[in-house]
Amino acid sequence: MRILVVGGGGREHATVKSLAKEGREIFCAPGNAGIANLATCVDIKTNDIDGIVKFATENKIDLAVVSQDEPLVLGMVDALQNAGIRAFGPNKAAAIIEGSKAFSKDLMKKYNIPTAKYEKFTDSEKAINYIKEQNSYPTVIKASGLALGKGVIIAENFEDAKEAVIEMLEGGKFGESGNEIVIEEFLTGTEVSVLAFTDGKCVKPMISSKDHKRAFDGDKGLNTGGMGVIAPNPVYTKDVEKQAFEQIFIPTINAMNAEGRTFKGVLYFGLIITEQGPKVIEYNCRFGDPEAQVCLSLLDTDLLEIMNAVIDGQLEKVDFSNKEGAAIIVMMCSGGYPESYAKGKEISGINADGQSDKFDYIFHSGTAIKDGKYVSNGGRVLGFVCLGKDVKDAQDKVYANIDSVKFENSFYRHDIGGKI
Ligand code: AMP
Ligand code: GLY
Repeated sequence: MRILVVGGGGREHATVKSLAKEGREIFCAPGNAGIANLATCVDIKTNDIDGIVKFATENKIDLAVVSQDEPLVLGMVDALQNAGIRAFGPNKAAAIIEGSKAFSKDLMKKYNIPTAKYEKFTDSEKAINYIKEQNSYPTVIKASGLALGKGVIIAENFEDAKEAVIEMLEGGKFGESGNEIVIEEFLTGTEVSVLAFTDGKCVKPMISSKDHKRAFDGDKGLNTGGMGVIAPNPVYTKDVEKQAFEQIFIPTINAMNAEGRTFKGVLYFGLIITEQGPKVIEYNCRFGDPEAQVCLSLLDTDLLEIMNAVIDGQLEKVDFSNKEGAAIIVMMCSGGYPESYAKGKEISGINADGQSDKFDYIFHSGTAIKDGKYVSNGGRVLGFVCLGKDVKDAQDKVYANIDSVKFENSFYRHDIGGKI
């Protein structure tokens, strides 16, 4: 069995690790230095649809797994399937649920799925008038298209809101992604990430998790792709789970079917638990990163079995089981991330296989090999995973050992999962 995973970050490292079993040959495009210990890395860019299809065809790939937003939104799964390659991930028609916030907000409104009140705009004057009329701060301004997780501005006052609108609609701050914006009500509550497999008929979530998006301790600094995650998320109680299923998960799958956009793959529900119950902050059409590293580390069911069931519309038949206890990942990043940062810094404290026995696993997000040594090659560089009997236990393990690994100007958050 020959499997191709498209991507080269920590999420793909976790995907490759979960798929790697006897009898399976794994390729990863483009992969990274950590992934290279488990798979054959091939130098093809993640949004090079023609290049990926050509490689998959020539190398007789039995299953291609596409897990990044951009290639999914561009239609890589459609292109693979059209070429006769079995592929995991939503098609282009379904990936729009992440590719356009204007689409997803309209979907939620039409099908009565709880979310923040909003309006969408392409004209800055109308947008600014709407903000004036609402006169409620903070207010949230979002670029409709993909923006590497940076297209959301939470404005504390009218001046900041106006500036954000002008930057996006007139200044081209997020390129085409900001040609349309969504302005929405600010919601208060605790956020939960739920990564759920669906074949368009049933929904099977992985364990709930909690991301930490801001760069620095105490939720200070800029939004990032995610600085660390714990699972399970303590606010995701049985009661919240029941509401989420009834009011959000099932209605979303049904809504996508009704729109002729059946979603098959992993649907990421970014929820906020408000006083009125769970509401949707965002949908992603793929595994979260770094949520996937933690959720997959706790998943006991074979990922390949799940992926095949999703593709074949047989998910109902798969029994999911998770390991007991909890898990944490803490990301080690390059100084300056999420803005500009250096690359090529030598990493100390890891072995030749990119691992260290001080952690349950180290997922590589951005590493390369230079002169036979591991070096940093991205903003997020390494993710340290520890499992424990509960979150505190996992937290204690990771923070007792994390300083054994470092590179010049590396930094990490000291409070993933709450103050310790
Ligand atoms: P998004 O990319 O839509 O997930 O937004 C990034 C982050 O901005 C979220 O994880 C929230 O922390 C915050 N955010 C987005 N929308 C809202 C909202 N309506 N109310 C409060 N916070 C929000
Ligand atoms: N960690 C959030 C995301 O993957 O979008």
